[in-house]
Amino acid sequence: MTIQPNSIEARDRAYHLHSYTNARALERDGAVVMERGEGIYVYDNNGNKYIEGMAGLWSVGVGFGENRLVEAAARQMSKLPYYHTFTARSHGPCIDLAEKLIQMAPVPMSKAYFTNSGSEANDTAIKMVWYRSNALGKPEKKKIISRIKGYHGVTIASASLTGLPNNHRSFDLPLSTIFHTSCPHYRAFKLENESEAAFVTRCAQELEDLILREGPETVAAFIGEPVMGAGGVIVPPAGYWEAIQLVLKKYDILLIADEVICGFGRTGEMFGTTTFALQPDIMTLSKQMSSSYQPISALLINDNVYEPLADESAKIGTFGHGVTAAGHPVAAAVALENIAIIEERDLLGNVRALAPKFQSRLKALEGHPLAIEARGIGLIGALELKPREGFAAGQLGPKLFAIMMEKGLISRAIGDSIALCPPMIITEAQIDTVFDTFEASLDIFQKQLSA
Ligand SMILES: Cc1ncc(COP(=O)(O)O)c(C=O)c1O
Repeated sequence: MTIQPNSIEARDRAYHLHSYTNARALERDGAVVMERGEGIYVYDNNGNKYIEGMAGLWSVGVGFGENRLVEAAARQMSKLPYYHTFTARSHGPCIDLAEKLIQMAPVPMSKAYFTNSGSEANDTAIKMVWYRSNALGKPEKKKIISRIKGYHGVTIASASLTGLPNNHRSFDLPLSTIFHTSCPHYRAFKLENESEAAFVTRCAQELEDLILREGPETVAAFIGEPVMGAGGVIVPPAGYWEAIQLVLKKYDILLIADEVICGFGRTGEMFGTTTFALQPDIMTLSKQMSSSYQPISALLINDNVYEPLADESAKIGTFGHGVTAAGHPVAAAVALENIAIIEERDLLGNVRALAPKFQSRLKALEGHPLAIEARGIGLIGALELKPREGFAAGQLGPKLFAIMMEKGLISRAIGDSIALCPPMIITEAQIDTVFDTFEASLDIFQKQLSA
């Protein structure tokens, strides 16, 4: 793309540092500037129309241009545009949302606590776990176990929990109290001739070995996404979560379910916790909670966490944690309206009805000569490309992504996997368009590679 002087792309390049972007490549190539969105589509400033096959960042569940959310925000803006929840202050939207989330929780939860992003929610979870251990007189119980390829965000503790090299490299992370155990990706990590059941047993055994090596009395919590998202859409094999939870119970280790992607319908249940029969002590929520129309995240904590935390705050005189915009009334009002839309329009029903189509079309692409594996559940999935001579790992995915984008379909390249996670309002015909485009793009890519 040639960047015209004084164009919006030129100003972006001049003034704006981007997340998850090679800054020098951006100086050369510029950014795609989006202008508006409607339903599953977004439009750039040159009038190009794209299917947002990733729902933004796995998050715009109700689609773009949802007027009910605009109106909910405007109503709250004009009534009370801001208030906080420090020092025993509160407001209606935050109370209503806390009540709603506790009622929706798939396992008994005691309190909701608000933050602004998934990263902040997970950072807060770690602080709560540490605070709790101190409250219980177990100051040595502070270590946290996460997983290779898990994604939990980018703030200092959350980035440490994340098990991806680019979130650690040159940032002096992870923190020394955070450890990573095996990734439940059977195809990638199985041993020769290892059955899926044996792989699951080994994952649980490796977790137990790590706990024993570190000392069970020093391990406070385990965090995991029910389905790994940004690590490449990794659906755990049958029995995985059951085996992991048995180990955690044995050593009195809390479970934090990171529901930032799975929450609010993505897997075909309201929460991934239900899909995989988890018994978390803490759940972290964000993204589809407000369909990202406003930044908001939440933690749900059970009594096992709340009671000692409350005692400690009474001992110290305060729970010394909180950020200015947490539980923001406009964001909370939008989240409430968004959850109402998910329920009233039965978007869960839509995910369940369309998942077989979505998954079978994805699975069919596994037969393409360039592909090695299709993975997915509900309305989330990924196709991984076969390693190819002459290409380093992670080089193929971005090339296919670019072809798809050119053809009007936004996906996400995660190494050599191409992920899809469309708005939950997608229709059957639109799913066909998504996969017709995906297939055509694979064919184009194959031709390019063999030219
Ligand atoms: C599972 C999971 N947890 C946490 C996060 C971090 O959320 P945020 O980007 O809002 O900080 C993400 C973001 O993609 C995520 O996918």
